[in-house]
Amino acid sequence: MYRTHNCGELRLGNEGQTVTLSGWVQKSRDLGGMTFIDLRDRYGITQLVFNMDENAELCEAARKLGREYVLRVNGSVKERSSKNPNRATGDIEIDVTALEVLNASDTPPFTIEDETDGGEELRMKYRYLDLRRTPVQNNIIFRSKLAIETRKYLAEAGFIEVETPVLIKSTPEGARDFVVPSRMNPGQFYALPQSPQTFKQILMVSGLDKYFQIVKCFRDEDLRADRQPEFTQIDCEMSFVTQDEVLDTFEGLTKNLFQRMLEVALPDFPRMSYDEAMENYGIDKPDLRFEMKFQNLNSLAKGKGFKVFDDAEAVIGICAKGIAADYSNKQMNELTDWVKRPQIGAKGLVYIKYNEDGSIKSSVGKFYSDEDLQSWGTAFGAEKGDVVFILSGELDKTRKQLGELRLELGRRLGLMKDGDFKPLWVVDFPLLEWDEDAERFHAMHHPFTSPKKSDVERMLNGDHETMKALRADAYDLVINGVEIGGGSIRIHDRALQERNFKLLGFTEEEAEDQFGFLMGAFEYGAPPHGGIAFGFDRLCAVLKGQNSIRDFIAFPKNNMGRDMMIDAPSKIDDTQLEELHLQSDVKED
Ligand code: AMO
Repeated sequence: MYRTHNCGELRLGNEGQTVTLSGWVQKSRDLGGMTFIDLRDRYGITQLVFNMDENAELCEAARKLGREYVLRVNGSVKERSSKNPNRATGDIEIDVTALEVLNASDTPPFTIEDETDGGEELRMKYRYLDLRRTPVQNNIIFRSKLAIETRKYLAEAGFIEVETPVLIKSTPEGARDFVVPSRMNPGQFYALPQSPQTFKQILMVSGLDKYFQIVKCFRDEDLRADRQPEFTQIDCEMSFVTQDEVLDTFEGLTKNLFQRMLEVALPDFPRMSYDEAMENYGIDKPDLRFEMKFQNLNSLAKGKGFKVFDDAEAVIGICAKGIAADYSNKQMNELTDWVKRPQIGAKGLVYIKYNEDGSIKSSVGKFYSDEDLQSWGTAFGAEKGDVVFILSGELDKTRKQLGELRLELGRRLGLMKDGDFKPLWVVDFPLLEWDEDAERFHAMHHPFTSPKKSDVERMLNGDHETMKALRADAYDLVINGVEIGGGSIRIHDRALQERNFKLLGFTEEEAEDQFGFLMGAFEYGAPPHGGIAFGFDRLCAVLKGQNSIRDFIAFPKNNMGRDMMIDAPSKIDDTQLEELHLQSDVKED
């Protein structure tokens, strides 16, 4: 037997028992007469003690053990003279009577501690060692529990888990596809699913009514902290539902997961229209952990001779509470440099400081009287001690820039508190988005999204300008500024789907070639249906108050999409290339 107990299990109540433990050497301390070893496994750490006076041979053997050696020990449980209150097993130690080295270990390239000295790339290369660290292991265990709770909730609500294929034909979700060459069909390729979108809709046509799947999705897009090329969705679809019913079901799931995982009871989620989100926060996924709403100053700031504002389409500001005294000229300059960085792209930053002593200081003080500046403050509800920041320019760009500044101030001022969760539904998204450069429409969510019932007629018969104003039954779940999920009510009618493809620039042949199967299915009694997909990795990260989803993926990829441990992607050999009918490097005679 390798173990009678695990390394996190023994307590004072076990005193006197003879036990067998197996695990890894976390640390050893040689104090001459005594050697102490911390033995670690997934469950915890137990202290082993070897006494020179009692068993010199065993103690000598213990001294030779390196970090990460794998051991089996026998011994008896003793009360510790100096207890460790920070450890669950801290009241006891094992007086070892037999020791077996199950496997030796090279010295690991970084320390296997909660705080390690290893850089990210090194830890990814030796992911099996990084996964031994408690915080990393805890994240993976958390993820497992979250998946189990999700399955429980959805199964209870009558959802059926169905696996959809991974070798499919491209579905346009806005990113590039990863493709797989087909050996048996020369020159042809499968695509890996960006999501199971068309399959889940087909399952509704098939009458499965409520579908879910915890499913891998693949998108060849630029990577960031919250984006991986392969990631996981909680993917769902329901028949005969309205938008409200979908939102209620998945608000229920989210509340249940917060309750089960964190014992946090979330209040009902507010709903905000896309237009409202853009107008007040400059972004379609506002972080509501702090207020700092936008205020439009066009009517107050324009027409007073300050050319920058006079020429701008929009003059918009935000008010930061109580920071006037702390914000020196140096900090103002720093913030101005920050908004001028190419990533943000603002031309400058105007500020108005409402000082505690009642005086007003502003970077545009030359152009405006104190009365003017006071009236702006009134528009914000600004009080003594507050600072107003203003950006101006073209409306959409200015909103975006101010949205970024709002988040940066939120970060700098510590307004995004750990353990504070602010979910909301963003609803009423536009159906189509006009791309000025490409001079074409893109689907704001995806091409299968239905316009609102009241907009169907306009979509079928309206002119080009009308199309820009169409609204969809599309929705996002946002928590703390992170887009957790997105979904929509779908088109289930062939004529409307054809119209949508046409608006998106598909020829009839292209639409038929790529999505004929779906439109064909719509001709055999497709029920009204809708659904949603949550980013499962993102949900894990947000629940744990972290930004990076990598920490919740057992084997993540780096920013270049590489798996550093197995060194993928990699070249394949010429025979394989030839079998796949792909050009090989071998020169032909
Ligand atoms: P969408 O494209 O909005 O919708 O994706 C749903 C959710 O998946 C997560 N997500 C990602 N997570 C990690 N890395 C990525 N690269 C990545 N891309 C997306 C986000 C996002 O909200 N088929 C539709 C859903 C539907 O309409 O039912 C879809 O995939 O959290």
